[in-house]
Amino acid sequence: MRDQTESGTPFAGVYGPDDLAGFDPAEKLGEPGAFPYTRGVHPTMYTSRPWTMRQYAGFGTAAESNARYRELIAQGTAGLSVAFDLPTQMGHDSDAPLAAGEVGKVGVAIDSIEDMRVLFDGIPLGEVSTSMTINAPAAVLLLLYELVAEEQGVPADRLTGTIQNDVLKEYIARGTYIFPPEPSLRLVADTFAYCQRRLPRWNTISISGYHMAEAGATPAQEIAFTLADGIAYVEAALAAGLEVDEFAPRLSFFFVARTTLLEEVAKFRAARRIWAHVMRERFGARHPKSLMLRFHTQTAGVQLTAQQPEVNLARVTIQALAAVLGGTQSLHTNSFDEALALPTQKSARLALRTQQVIAHETDVTSTVDPFAGSYVVESLTDAVEAEALRLMAAVEELGGAVRAIEEGFQKSEIERTAYQIAREIDAGERVVVGVNRFTVDVEDPYQPLRVDPVLEREQVARLVRLRSERDQPAVDRALEALVAAAAGTTNVLDPMREALRLGATVGEVCNALRGVWGVHSPRETF
Ligand code: 3HC
Repeated sequence: MRDQTESGTPFAGVYGPDDLAGFDPAEKLGEPGAFPYTRGVHPTMYTSRPWTMRQYAGFGTAAESNARYRELIAQGTAGLSVAFDLPTQMGHDSDAPLAAGEVGKVGVAIDSIEDMRVLFDGIPLGEVSTSMTINAPAAVLLLLYELVAEEQGVPADRLTGTIQNDVLKEYIARGTYIFPPEPSLRLVADTFAYCQRRLPRWNTISISGYHMAEAGATPAQEIAFTLADGIAYVEAALAAGLEVDEFAPRLSFFFVARTTLLEEVAKFRAARRIWAHVMRERFGARHPKSLMLRFHTQTAGVQLTAQQPEVNLARVTIQALAAVLGGTQSLHTNSFDEALALPTQKSARLALRTQQVIAHETDVTSTVDPFAGSYVVESLTDAVEAEALRLMAAVEELGGAVRAIEEGFQKSEIERTAYQIAREIDAGERVVVGVNRFTVDVEDPYQPLRVDPVLEREQVARLVRLRSERDQPAVDRALEALVAAAAGTTNVLDPMREALRLGATVGEVCNALRGVWGVHSPRETF
């Protein structure tokens, strides 16, 4: 039993009509699929189409990941979600000194157009939607995807998918940034403009709260700091001369789903309502899709335990239910063994089956926003909204998300919460089943999936061969054109696409930009 929510609101043992005194459903809720979208972004939600079951996957070489994607498609997953290894995420080639030991480890190694070809070999890019969890070099991987689709004969304007492309949260949590905030925001704005022109169905950004939550953020901090980042991206796009109703419909979001189901449902509903008001009242957006907060959810990895790992099946099921009851558009369910190692094929399939049970065996998809009007969930929705708005005002006070990041505000707020949670677990005040209560003396044996270390040498050999076979003078000229664009004000994605088409690598493109924009060095907050 908890006496207060994760966001700090005291729980009333019993909620009743008095808790909703003065509550105006027309103002607070609206109809499903209508402003302020509290009840969901579509009038029919899952009654006409379930959320996208989109399992995050990727490891080793492009060929190994390609095999896992084909398996997931065969098992019924509707959308792909690519995990990249750290060298790719940081814009380094597999043969860069910094890449040693990391190639193919936490995701797939992608150095060039050749790897991208292999990654999607046999997968019709006109028929799948692909999410790519890539941030600082998001534009680079998007262009490689577009180039490979072009080779498959799929026109760019048919491509659907998402790039995470949210560097601001990388400065706050996770850390896979490259350039300082200003050029990073310029690159995001260039990407918005490029997609508007060439990939109109592509979701240009997945503004993420997940990683802040994994670092310890409360639900209110998670949505407050994420929406504050969203405001910074909208302002950067407007400053670059884009029209709000042209780019805003393709913004998307990404949140966590914790085991505290009631507050999580309230969190998602509050986030939609806040964003709808921000876009209409602050930015004058009018297109309905500009006002809708569409989001992907991943179940909370940080709540998984290495002890008695099968217990995580129960946690993931409750977390997935929270996301569905909260109206998610897309969902990744973690595998029960992820606190131990990369998921095995069997544990990854079990994670997908969890979603399929919720979608096809329960009745929660038979009606829209089932908690609407609930004394407790509407009260919690108001409470999370109020706390999030207070935190967003504090960020505004500091001059907006970028200034607040430079002050270390969000990071220190989250670290304070994380410390509090750790202290409660250590003191046994916060129960973690199998860890500080209901433990066992001897754990069952478990065989994790191992990534073969030989793959790093194979990947480096492919890279050396690619460089020896390409038209080097043409690549050099294309990289020079990229440098000129980065130093000027023209959109960098056009020269970048040409360089990648000629076989320039992810690392070479990012090094060209590093040479012009420099790299970010964070201020210490602790
Ligand atoms: N009624 C009418 N139309 C409906 C509908 C309904 N009930 N349900 C869906 N639709 C329509 C939608 O409007 C959309 O049409 P459009 O393309 O014309 O807009 C179409 O059907 C597809 O629906 P969605 O766009 O809602 O579903 P998608 O799955 O394609 O997109 C998204 C969902 C959230 C908008 C998108 O941004 C997305 O897929 N995001 C995924 C992000 C992701 O996977 N991230 C992984 C991160 S992992 C990570 O960060 C690392 C780890 O460490 C955490």
